[in-house]
Amino acid sequence: MLSGKHILLIIGGGIAAYKSLDLIRRLRERGAKVTPVLTRAGEEFVTPLSVSALTGVKVFRDLFDLGDEAEMGHIQLSRAADLLVVAPATADLMAKMAQGSANDLASTLLLATDTPVLLAPAMNVRMWQHPATQRNIATLRGDGIAMVGPNDGDMACGEFGPGRMAEPLEIVSAVEAHLADGPLKGKRIVVTSGPTHEPIDPVRYIANRSSGAQGTAIARALAAMGAEVVFVTGPAEVPPPEGVKVVLIQTAQEMMEAVEAALPADAGVFAAAVADWHVEGTSDRKLKKSKDGLPTLSFAENPDILKTISQRTEGRPALVVGFAAETNDVLAHATAKRARKGCDWIVANDVSPGTGIMGGTENTVTLITDDGAEDWPRMGKDAVAARLAKRIAAALA
Ligand code: CTP
Repeated sequence: MLSGKHILLIIGGGIAAYKSLDLIRRLRERGAKVTPVLTRAGEEFVTPLSVSALTGVKVFRDLFDLGDEAEMGHIQLSRAADLLVVAPATADLMAKMAQGSANDLASTLLLATDTPVLLAPAMNVRMWQHPATQRNIATLRGDGIAMVGPNDGDMACGEFGPGRMAEPLEIVSAVEAHLADGPLKGKRIVVTSGPTHEPIDPVRYIANRSSGAQGTAIARALAAMGAEVVFVTGPAEVPPPEGVKVVLIQTAQEMMEAVEAALPADAGVFAAAVADWHVEGTSDRKLKKSKDGLPTLSFAENPDILKTISQRTEGRPALVVGFAAETNDVLAHATAKRARKGCDWIVANDVSPGTGIMGGTENTVTLITDDGAEDWPRMGKDAVAARLAKRIAAALA
C-alpha cells in the first residue's frame, strides 16, 4: 500500500508515455498522491488534460510558468514528494541528469531534489546499448539513482531487445519496495565487495576468483530493509544492486580511500576479497619478454581495510563485520582473524574448490560474535544476505 505517500511523476517524451497513464491509476488505487510533471516532448505523446484528469491535480509543465513559481517553487515541488519517479526516462533525460544539466522543469527538479529518484528507462535498443547511455547509467547508479527495467521485447520502432519500459505494475512494485519503512531506515552502511585488481603493468593485473555475488546480495538486502548503502566494489562479475550508492574501484588502495570517504557510517560490512599485496614499482609500459630471463615481481603489502576501520579510535562504525574465506581449519582461522583485526563479527566460510562456494550461488557460513560461533545451514547467497541483514538490524536497533 502507498497510502499517504506522495509521488512526483515526471513523464518524459517517449511512446511508452501512454503506459504512464495506467501507472498513475495503479499508484492512486494504492492510495498514493501523484503530482505530475510533463516534459515538452512528453506532451507530444500524452495530453496534459488526460494526465490531470487521471491525477486529479494540475500538471506542471514549464519552469518559467510564473503562476507555478508563485504557488510552489520548483525546489519545494521536488522536495515535497517521498519519491520522484521518471517514467518513461528517455536517453535524453538520463543524459541531462548524468551531466547535472537543468534547462527545463523536469531536469531542474531532478537536480534540485534531495528525495530518492526511481527511473523507468524506455528507448530504442541501440540507444540503450550506446556507450554514451551506458556511461550515463553507470554515473546515475553511482549517484544512488534506482532503476526499474528496461525489459527485453518487441519495441514500437520494430526492433527487439532491451529498451521497453517496465510495465506499470512492475514500476508500482519498485515504488513500494523503495518506500518500505524497513528497520534499517536512517542507518548508513558501507559494504565492500568483489575482488581487487592490482596492476603489474598497463595490461596485466593480479586478481582473485571473487564474483562479488555475496557482497552484492548483502548490499541489496540491507537496502531492502531501508538502509542507506554505500557499495564500494572492485571489478565484479555480477552487476551492482539498484538503489545504493555505487563506488567503483580497482585496487585495494582505492577501496581503502573510498571506504574512508564514505564514513561516518553506522555499520561496515567488509565482504570484498581484497588482494593482500600489490606489485611494487609497476611499470607504465607493458613488460616485454627478454633474453635475460623471467621478470621478477616484488610485492608490497596493501592496507588492511577491515583492520584499519575496526581499530579506528574515532568515527568507528558501531558494528564492523568482516569475512573470513578459508580453505582449512575454518573456525580456528576465523576466530583468530576476528581477534587480530578487531572487528565485531566474522562471517566465516570454507572456499576450498570442492565446496563450489567461490563463484557459486550458495554459501555455508559460520557467524562468529562475542557469543560464540553459530553454524548456518547451506543456503543461497541471497538467503545468507537476508539473515545477516536481519541480524545487523537487530544489533543496530
Ligand atoms: N580485508 C580487508 N583488507 C585487506 C584484506 C582483507 O578489508 N587488505 C578484509 C576482507 O574484506 C575480509 C577480511 O578482511 O572481510 C578477511 O579477509 P581474508 O583475505 O580472509 O584475510 P587476510 O587478512 O587476507 O588473512 P589471511 O591472509 O591470513 O587469510
